[in-house]
Amino acid sequence: MPSLMQGLSGPCLYSFRRKLRYGWSYNLERGFNVRKAILDVDTGIDDALGIMLAIRSGELDVLGITTVNGNVSLETATKNTCKILDLIHADPSISVYPGASHPLLRNPVFEHRVHGQDGLGGALADMHPSGRADLSGFGPDFIIEQARLYPGEVTLIATGPLTNVALALAKRPSLVHELKEIVIMGGAVQTYGNITPVAEYNMYVDPEAAQLVLQAGFPRLTLIGLDVTRRALLTSEHIDTLGESEIANYVRQSTSDYMQRYFERNGVQACAMHDPLAVATAIWPELVETTRYYVDVETRSELCDGQTVCDFQNRLQRKPNVEVGLKVDAEEFISRFIYVLRGTN
Ligand code: BDR
Ligand code: CA
Repeated sequence: MPSLMQGLSGPCLYSFRRKLRYGWSYNLERGFNVRKAILDVDTGIDDALGIMLAIRSGELDVLGITTVNGNVSLETATKNTCKILDLIHADPSISVYPGASHPLLRNPVFEHRVHGQDGLGGALADMHPSGRADLSGFGPDFIIEQARLYPGEVTLIATGPLTNVALALAKRPSLVHELKEIVIMGGAVQTYGNITPVAEYNMYVDPEAAQLVLQAGFPRLTLIGLDVTRRALLTSEHIDTLGESEIANYVRQSTSDYMQRYFERNGVQACAMHDPLAVATAIWPELVETTRYYVDVETRSELCDGQTVCDFQNRLQRKPNVEVGLKVDAEEFISRFIYVLRGTN
C-alpha cells in the first residue's frame, strides 16, 4: 500500500500541500493528484474517527468541514469537530463551517445515549478548541462555493443527516454536476435499522433531506449503509495495537461507552465504524463493492419513515440513482485505519 506512506511522512509535507491549495493539491508520490474533499459531519464518536482518517491519511485535500445537527446539536458538533482537528494537529487552514441547526421539517433527534451527552463519549472534555469555526460562514454555502471553484473535482463525504446537502441543492441544483461525487454514510437496504426497526439514524433524522439528495440526479452517489458498516468492527484489541499516544488514548476513551452500547444491542464487544468506512470508501473505493440500484427514502409512514427502499429487481422501472455498498473487505479497512492512526503518534 505505498500511497499511504506519503500521508504518514509528517505535517511538513502536509502543510506544503495545503499551501498549494488554491492552485493544485500536491502529493509527492502522485504529483498534482490529491482528491479535494469536504466532510459534512455531526460529530459524533464515529464522525470524529472519520475526520481523523480523512486528514491523517494524506490522501485527501480537505478543503473544509461543514457541520450539521444530528447526534448532537449543531453547536456541539462544531465544537467537537474543532477539538478533533486540534487533537490531530490538522493544518490551521482547515476551517469548520456550521450549517443547519435542525432538520428541514422535523424536530432534532439527538443520540446522546450512544455518543454521550457531549458527543465524544466524555473524551477531550477539558479541551478548549482553537478558533477554527468560521461563524460568519454557512455550511451549505461553503459546499456550493468550493464546488464552483473546483468544478468536477470535489468529493463530498456526508456522515450526518443530509440537511446541509439538501439546502445546498435547493439553492444550487447544478451542484449535482459540479461535485465530482458524493459518498454518504446512511441507510440500510438489506438489513434492519439502528433507530427504528427499518431506518438507519442519518436517514431517519431528516428523511425529506435524504430523499431530496437521493433524487437530485448525482451522476455518482455512493451509499455506505449499515449493510456494510455493521461488518466493519473495531475491537479493543485493535485499539491496543495503537499503543500509547494522545490519539490512542483518545480513541480508547471515546469508544469505551460506545462499545458497551453496541454490545447491549448487538451482543458483540466492538463498535461499528459507520462514518470512517464512508471516508475510507472515498479514499480507497476498492474496499467496498457497490451495485447500482434505484433507491428512495420513505417520508410518509408512521412505522417506516427514513427507510431506504432499494429496488433490487427494478420493479419500479426507474433509472438507478445510487451505488449501493453491499460487500466490504472489513479486515483490510480496519488494518488501513489502524495504520493511518498509528502513524500520527
Ligand atoms: C450513523 O448515525 C450516527 O449516530 C453515526 O455518527 C453515523 O453517522 C450510523 O447510523
Ligand atoms: Ca455521523
